Amino acid sequence: MADLFWKMNTQDASADKAVGEKHGPVISIPADMKPGEPSKIRVNVGGGKHPNTNDHHIQWVELRVNDLYVGRVEFSPVIMQPEVEFTLICPHREAVISAVARCNLHGLWTSKTVCTCS
Ligand SMILES: [Fe+2]
Repeated sequence: MADLFWKMNTQDASADKAVGEKHGPVISIPADMKPGEPSKIRVNVGGGKHPNTNDHHIQWVELRVNDLYVGRVEFSPVIMQPEVEFTLICPHREAVISAVARCNLHGLWTSKTVCTCS
């Protein structure tokens, strides 16, 4: 598994489907998102399937807009779930919203979605 730490992993490209499903950040964007207004962006790593123990857990989640870092939340194992809601004020009418999550055993995982504001 050490090779997972030497690249950015994605659920779709994961050689092990079960590992990919547990680590892919699931990004939820409100349908009524508008440029320049606060919007709640939710990120849930692995849809709740990832282990959450002291030995195996998600350490943090980052949010990026067009590859620009905009925020990070760190998690304590066991007592926090790797789910987070970012309040984003995005100036763009169209942007690529991405999330990166780091598992202490399985490295970095990312996913992205294209946001088109009304
Ligand atoms: Fe993991």
